[in-house]
Amino acid sequence: MKYDAKEIEAIIEKYLPACEGYPVKVIEAMNYAFKAGGKRLRPALMNICFDLYADENDDDMIKALECFMSAIEMIHTYSLIHDDLPALDNDKLRRGKPTVHVAFGEDIAILAGDGLLNYAYETAAKAFSICKCNERIERAFVLLTTKPGIYGMIGGQTLDVIMSAKPLDKNQLDYIYANKTSALIECSMMIGAILGGADDSEVEIIEKIAYSVGMAFQVQDDILDLTGDEQVIGKPVLSDEKNEKTTYVTMFGMQNAKKFVKDMSDESCRLVDSLEVKNEQVKEILSDIIESLINRDR
Ligand code: IPE
Ligand code: IPE
Ligand code: MG
Ligand code: MG
Ligand code: MG
Repeated sequence: MKYDAKEIEAIIEKYLPACEGYPVKVIEAMNYAFKAGGKRLRPALMNICFDLYADENDDDMIKALECFMSAIEMIHTYSLIHDDLPALDNDKLRRGKPTVHVAFGEDIAILAGDGLLNYAYETAAKAFSICKCNERIERAFVLLTTKPGIYGMIGGQTLDVIMSAKPLDKNQLDYIYANKTSALIECSMMIGAILGGADDSEVEIIEKIAYSVGMAFQVQDDILDLTGDEQVIGKPVLSDEKNEKTTYVTMFGMQNAKKFVKDMSDESCRLVDSLEVKNEQVKEILSDIIESLINRDR
């Protein structure tokens, strides 16, 4: 990856709850899933979109950004815990470790997902007291409530699970990808840009960039489900086949899927080029990250 996942980790882990008190079991499970590793792509993209527009001396806004970076990774991690449950994809390996329901039981896994989702909002809400009466924080918070919701990630996951082993058309497949995957990437990048001070027309372009990045990211995920190495991807291969999922690969073939990843990435880089930002040199870093996702092996 073209960013330092460890650096991002050091920021986002600061906000995890302490393992103590009667709910210690669920907190252990939340922290287990969160700390298991992962690419940390969403907080990294949030950070870089902030850097496109931000004034580097705005210490309070940087603190607020960190709360949102941690929050989006909590929401993403909750979505993975629930995605792996026996009732959904029924997978036993995640981020190179036994999934939460394998390690802690299904009851605690469900609650750990709920816990992370709720704690994400508790964490992001800290930004309100760091930057009082700040319109950017309000807009960012609204995005954090909507993009992961029923008209976003949960909507995409819903169609994904109910259409398993059923015939699917291209519009439905696009809806699933745009929501189960692009929505959280849009959420991450738009929040970064808003906190950094981007105006509405810039945020609109950022949303389009994130949509394309997300679509490419999910198709590459489908490719890795077939061609990846379990040790490297840290999750089971052939999970989609097991669950009889329709994917871009099953619908259009491997070569077309690869071409789609490249085309969507090129489209996002073209849009990055068109951004009017405060810090020009950051555009190149963002394009490099997007390009590095095309041939990722994890
Ligand atoms: C996995 O996301 C779920 C998808 C949307 C494909 P990531 O591939 O970003 O998972 P981690 O965070 O690196 O574990
Ligand atoms: C799920 O897509 C995306 C989520 C919202 C969690 P997948 O089911 O393909 O994700 P992986 O392959 O298990 O990470
Ligand atoms: Mg799934
Ligand atoms: Mg899955
Ligand atoms: Mg997958």
